[in-house]
Amino acid sequence: MTSNDTVFQSSCAEAAESGESFQFKGWIKYFRVGGKSLSFAEMTDGRNWLQVVFKGKLAKSLTADSGDGAESIIHRETCLQVEGPIKEDKRSKWGYELCPTTCKIYGLSDPDIQSRVTPESGAFVQREMRHLVIRGTRASDILKVRSDVLFHLRTFYHAQGFYEVSPPTIVETECEGGSTLFKMDYFGSPAYLTQSSQLYLETCLPSMGKVFCILPSYRAETSKTPRHLAEFSHVEAEMPFICLEDIMDHLEALMRWVWKGLSKSPGVLEKIQALNPAIEEVEWDRPFLRMRYADVIPKLTELGIMHKDGSAYAHGDDLTDATERELMESLGHPLFVTHFPASMKSFYMERVSPSPEGSGDAGDAGDAGDPETLSMDLLLPGVGETVGGSMRMWQLEELMQGYKDNNLDPEPYYWYTDQRKYGSCPHGGYGLGLERFIMFLTGAESVRECTLFPRFIGRSRP
Ligand code: 4AD
Repeated sequence: MTSNDTVFQSSCAEAAESGESFQFKGWIKYFRVGGKSLSFAEMTDGRNWLQVVFKGKLAKSLTADSGDGAESIIHRETCLQVEGPIKEDKRSKWGYELCPTTCKIYGLSDPDIQSRVTPESGAFVQREMRHLVIRGTRASDILKVRSDVLFHLRTFYHAQGFYEVSPPTIVETECEGGSTLFKMDYFGSPAYLTQSSQLYLETCLPSMGKVFCILPSYRAETSKTPRHLAEFSHVEAEMPFICLEDIMDHLEALMRWVWKGLSKSPGVLEKIQALNPAIEEVEWDRPFLRMRYADVIPKLTELGIMHKDGSAYAHGDDLTDATERELMESLGHPLFVTHFPASMKSFYMERVSPSPEGSGDAGDAGDAGDPETLSMDLLLPGVGETVGGSMRMWQLEELMQGYKDNNLDPEPYYWYTDQRKYGSCPHGGYGLGLERFIMFLTGAESVRECTLFPRFIGRSRP
């Protein structure tokens, strides 16, 4: 159940004590006729809730006699203003009850609201009716948690000395591989919707130091999985003079900060616990696990986690969504998978020779011709990969080779290359998929529930 703001509760208490009339504007979410001259309602203005009981003439005025008896003219989603005395009432979910003496209807709601979308409606109807679905408590609670998460993310970055920047989302360069690029005609020239703002964040380091952005990224993902969107909210940060371990320490601190902030905000923890009772099991103070990719592969076999066809994972295999979730189920704790082979990762990632140290049997380290990258993915329980990051190539020659190895024309990247020509430094960063993080926190079944109007293959409305 959603609790009210303390400020709102205080104004209810004050009005109840002084006998002053109380005014509330909002939408009816529940309405029941209790008799000829009695009806009950639960209303919200989007933030706070109030129980309302209509009596006498006012209750009658909200009904129309169709001949067969009184029928309510009020239906779920009617928008109105009520005003009258308020009193404390222990039976009310929110502790108070308003008995209006006046009621002003702003907008009636068509009775077909009951049937447009119901909990039994199939996935297609739910998606078509998303604009009505978000009027429900569950959908709007997830969006409210998202709003709080965004707030705490920003306070974390500001407390840590980051500046927020807003790179463009129409670009000429790819960042995460050509297969998921959305190409567009930009005034007669080709351009793309950005896959990541990372390359632009890197340009800010010499003048702004640590920077972050929270912007949409786009991927022409054809896979219909619970964690892929075509447009997602990308929380990205870039930091100079750091190493891979620093990125992981920073991310652990970020997650704990956000969680602490959420659990201290009145009403928010209750919302999350109601949406996702399993959140109690997360051991926020326990260091997250860290494991090299070369060690994860044999670990999968050891845990009995196989490919769909029953074959064992081998060095060079990408971990599928299902595998990541199974691994999380076995480990039960967030895990950083580090040092992915270069062949699996993007052109800009800092490469190192495969190290036998920490990779168990040297044979697991894989192909000596395929260097490791200073990269990491953070896997969270119930979701799998939620953050991807790395150290970046910061030497010019290395980057030129990176373009070459990935068949990329360096020309459109001239501004990115210039970073390596004028005062380069070791640096790195990451991208966190906001919807995946919200999915983890709220236990939502899919990232589609974690954004206002999801965009994924085959859907660009409402
Ligand atoms: O691992 P990715 O592709 O990394 C990058 O884009 C880097 N350039 C980020 C950086 O270093 N600044 O994506 C980062 C995260 C993923 O871990 C995932 O959470 C999210 O972005 N993500 C998606 N979320 C929803 N739908 C998709 N199609 C996503 N693709 C990536």
